[in-house]
Amino acid sequence: MKTQTQHLLRNLVIIMASCLFSIACTSEKQLEELVQTPGEETTMEEPVQSEEPAALLPGLPKDVAGYTQWLKLNAEPIPPVPGGDPHNGTKNVYVNKTREVIAPNGKQEFPYPDGSIVVKDATRPGKDFVGLVAIMRKKAGVDPDHNDWEFIEYVRNASDADFREIARDGVCWGCHTQAEDIDYVFTELE
Ligand code: HEC
Repeated sequence: MKTQTQHLLRNLVIIMASCLFSIACTSEKQLEELVQTPGEETTMEEPVQSEEPAALLPGLPKDVAGYTQWLKLNAEPIPPVPGGDPHNGTKNVYVNKTREVIAPNGKQEFPYPDGSIVVKDATRPGKDFVGLVAIMRKKAGVDPDHNDWEFIEYVRNASDADFREIARDGVCWGCHTQAEDIDYVFTELE
């Protein structure tokens, strides 16, 4: 009887010891996580903070948020084309790539890389707000006949109105094929 009780006690001690050990291990792990978390958070926060000032005009897709901070292709605003302008207004054209990426040797190279987004905005004649936003998005496989560009245009008639889609693709290629040799984008990097 005595030896059985001793056995039992010894086993209990072993079980308790291993429990304590694993608890200690777990809390050590948790502690490590706790210690690591603040570091991870700071690195996670950085891109979020830099995206904060990127304003998104109402009604436009999220991937063009902050486009006016992207690389501008034109040096001076592009004036309305006299006698009929397909994108009527004073225009600026931006791309979500750096100068180094699209003009690695100082001169622009074509085609644009996959994932490129070209945004043109236009302030209508006599107005003081952006009334038109035309977007070209390069997505691998979306339209191999037109260098995989997706074309979409949005307009609004008041500075507090949402943009709404007005046209896409087919209507746009008709003209933009004239710039086929420079990857369908008329405006070149200046
Ligand atoms: C009648 C011809 C014509 C049509 C149609 C047209 N575009 Fe354009 N687009 C131009 C020209 C010319 C430019 C060059 C800059 C300027 O004067 O606006 C241009 C510029 C652009 C730009 C800036 C990049 C570049 O090519 O210079 C975008 C983006 C764009 N168009 C998108 C569209 C979309 C989207 C559509 C269809 C909904 C469309 N375009 C239809 C003629 C056209």
